[in-house]
Formats: sequence, C-alpha cells, structure tokens
Amino acid sequence: MNSLVQQNVTEFVYLASIILFILSLKWLSSPETARRGVRAGEIGMAIAILATLAGAGIVQYTWILVGLAIGGVIGVPLGLVKTTAVPQRTALSHAFGALTATLIGISEYYVDVGTVRMTKFDMVEIALEVIVGALTFTGSLIAAGKLQEVLPQRPITYKGQNLISLGTLSLAVLLGIILMFRPGLPWFFPAMVVVSLGFGVLLVTPIGGADMPTVIALLNSYAGLADALLGFVLHSRVLIVAGALDGASGFILAVIMCKAMNRSFTNVLFGAFGQLQTGAGKGVEERTVRSATPEDAADILKAASNIVVVPGYGMAVAQAQHKVRELYDILTKQGINVSFGVHPVAGRMPGHMNVLLAEADIPYDKLLEMDQVNSDMPQTDVALILGANDVCNPAARSDPSSPIYGMPIIDVDKARTVMVVKRSLNPGFAGIDNPLFYMDKTLMCFGDAKKFLGEIVQALQGHQA
Ligand code: TAP
Repeated sequence: MNSLVQQNVTEFVYLASIILFILSLKWLSSPETARRGVRAGEIGMAIAILATLAGAGIVQYTWILVGLAIGGVIGVPLGLVKTTAVPQRTALSHAFGALTATLIGISEYYVDVGTVRMTKFDMVEIALEVIVGALTFTGSLIAAGKLQEVLPQRPITYKGQNLISLGTLSLAVLLGIILMFRPGLPWFFPAMVVVSLGFGVLLVTPIGGADMPTVIALLNSYAGLADALLGFVLHSRVLIVAGALDGASGFILAVIMCKAMNRSFTNVLFGAFGQLQTGAGKGVEERTVRSATPEDAADILKAASNIVVVPGYGMAVAQAQHKVRELYDILTKQGINVSFGVHPVAGRMPGHMNVLLAEADIPYDKLLEMDQVNSDMPQTDVALILGANDVCNPAARSDPSSPIYGMPIIDVDKARTVMVVKRSLNPGFAGIDNPLFYMDKTLMCFGDAKKFLGEIVQALQGHQA
C-alpha cells in the first residue's frame, strides 16, 4: 500500500475509534446500555491499537512483542481480581498508564534534546506531560496501597504539609520553565522527574481512606490528562482525544463523588478527611441493640407493603446479590413493593451496587437514586440494609463532630422499621460508629449477608408452602 493511502486509512480508523469512544461513554451512562458501552470502548481501543501497529511509524516489532508479553503477564491476573478489589486494581491501572506516559515523555526528551527538533513548545509539552504522568504514577501507587491496606488508611499529616506539597509542585514547574529556555541543562530534567514523583507521594499520603473514591477519580483524570499531553508530544490525534475523554470523564466522576460526600476538591486534597476514629466502637458494648433471627425478619418483611433495600459493601463481600434477587422475587410475587436505594459511594467503586444488582437481573427501574428514595422513606415500612454502614449513618446528618458530617446519606432511620444485615457492630470504611444500630426501631440481623438472606428466603418459602 502506498504510504499516503496507508496514512489515510490509519487516520480513518482512528476517527472510527474516537467515535466509538464517545459512544461508549454515552452508553455507559445508563445501566440499560452499559454493556453496549463496554463493547464499543473495547472495539474502539482494539482497532486503534491495530491501526497503530500496522502504521508506517513502526520500525520493528520485537520490543513491542516483548512489551505485550510483559504487559499480558501483569495484566491478565489484574483483570481477574474480585470485584471488591477493583478500586485498588483501577488505581494500579492508572499507575501503569501514567508510568507509560512518563517513560515515553522521558525517551522523547532524550531523543530530541540538543537537536533542532526540540522547540520551546515541544519542551513545554514534554515537561507538562512528564510532571503530570510522574505525580499520577506515585499518587496512584499510594492510593492502591491504602485501598489494599498495605499502607495505613488514615491520613498522614504533619506540620506545614500543604506548604511542603505546594512547594514541591512549584519546584517541578520551575524546573520545567527553566528547561523551556535551556533544555540541555544537565540534571534539570531528571531532577524535575524525581521532584514530580515525590509530589505524587505527598499529594495522596495525607488523604484518608474515606476520600479514596474521589482521589481515584481524580487520578483517573490526571492519567487521562497525561495521555492527552502525550498525544501532543507524539502528534497523535487519537491519543489527544482519548486522553481528553478519559481526563474529562474522570473529572466529572470526581465532582459527582465530591457531591455525594458533600466535600469540595480543596477539602479532599487538603482536608485530611477520613481519619479513623481511634475510639470507634468504644462504648458500643455498653449500649444495647435489638437483634432478629431470619424467621423474625421473614415475618416482618411479609407483613410490609413497601420495602426499600439499601445495599452496601457487605453485599459485595458476601456476593449476596443472587439471594437478593430470590428475596425480591418472593416478596414481589406477594404484591409487596420492593425498591432499591443506591448511594453513589456505596461499596468500593462508582456504580459497584448497580453492577452487582444488574448481574442478578434486578429490574433497572427498581434502582432508585438517593434523593428519590429519601423522599419515599417516611412511607416505607421496612428499610432492609444489606452490608451497608457509612452510607446510612445518621451521624452524617446530626453530629457535627462526626468525620462524615455533611455527607448526604440514605435516610433509612426515617423508615418505620429498620433491619440491618451485617456480621457484627463493627464500623464500615470510615471507621466510625453508627447510631442507627442502637435505635429502638432497628433490628440487627447478625450474619453473613448471603447466608442470612438465604435463611430469610427459606423461611418465606416455608410460609408459602
Ligand atoms: P461500609 O460503610 O464500608 O460498611 C460495610 C459493612 O459491610 C461493614 O460495616 C461490615 O460490617 C459489613 N460486611 C462486610 N462483610 C459482610 C458480609 N459478608 N456480610 C454482611 N455484612 C458484611 O460500606 P458502605 O455503607 O457501602 O459505604 C461505603 C464506604 O466506602 C463509604 O465510606 C465510602 O466513602 C467508601 N468508599 C467508597 C468507594 C466508592 S467509589 N463506592 C470507594 C472507596 C471507599 P461487619 O464487619 O459487621 O459485617
């Protein structure tokens, strides 16, 4: 194929992949079309990769194949982790993506520095791309470590922390500016890379576990930005668009997460939220709770007209979604109205509950958003909480001293009866006690969510027989 035709074909395929990426994001925004969205994204990415591999710019395939083999060995096990580990896996994906962008930026610098090809504009592109890529790499590694609990989840703060962090970022930018005028200055470029790597650590270390949803979304956005900047460095339109889409969608997600937790960006980045309360659980033993057996729970559910199920991280851990479906079928067959209240940060990743409930074929129209479900709560007979904790902790509404004060919650305490299925009185992700458990209208159903629900289903089937 002559090279002009080949170039046109490549550009055409890139255009098709860009259209598929945009459609993918559109389709991903609704549970009904999400599967189609995933397919479109996969196809878009596959044809973009194939077009690049077949493109004229490839000198030889040996190192590409070696890279593919190494990436495959790391990527396949990462793709097979349990859904509860997806947040840390996502953080690692951002780290790898950002590392790639950084390494390519570094190699572009060393290939071009000292040649006529290196203009001021090129140096700015490379410096920006390497700074964003490097800080995203180390920041994502720290986030993954916190989520995997190999690093302490609590915010690690120290005196003058914000000043030191901002000073480090400013130093990286200053080195970049100097390089723009004198790109060949020895040691300035590696120093900029090292300072940027350090800034990533300083950026995420002071952020507590409870703010990780926002941080992951924000790092997603930075990784997208690094890729878009890399697109400028490599003059690749598809990379610019794909990176910009990734960056923008990550940013929008971070805004949604902040709204869901009633937090501002500056608060997340500088507020050290999510400190585990050392006294969490203290005094719990002195207060009494009312507990219920699966048979008690079945009786209460059978007598209700309206039930709101509030799933949380525990449902994911127990993989109880199919039992939830069985319970839903039995109750709806008896004419009971069952809906689901899904909090935006329930579980450990955006859309976690939606994915699990969709897997169990719960009708999408039964999944209600927080505002909708809260307005119905006073007319709800039973709020059935399945492994959720922080997202329905009334302290967020009533206790200004609570670390989650101000976070919008699902107002389960306004339902006539509250049933909480979890294994103990232990706190959830934010590490704080939940006054809901001690309310008169609350019944604690102690046990693994899947097992307990299975027993409720059995009891209800027994009643039917
Ligand atoms: P959590 O507050 O984390 O509470 C989950 C509860 O599930 C725990 O209290 C635990 O109690 C229970 N549990 C664990 N295994 C269980 C099992 N096998 N059966 C029954 N219960 C089980 O969950 P949530 O209410 O979904 O809130 C999510 C939290 O995670 C928020 O603080 C949020 O900010 C944070 N977070 C969210 C995300 C995203 S994007 N969704 C990402 C990172 C962090 P027991 O041990 O007593 O059973």
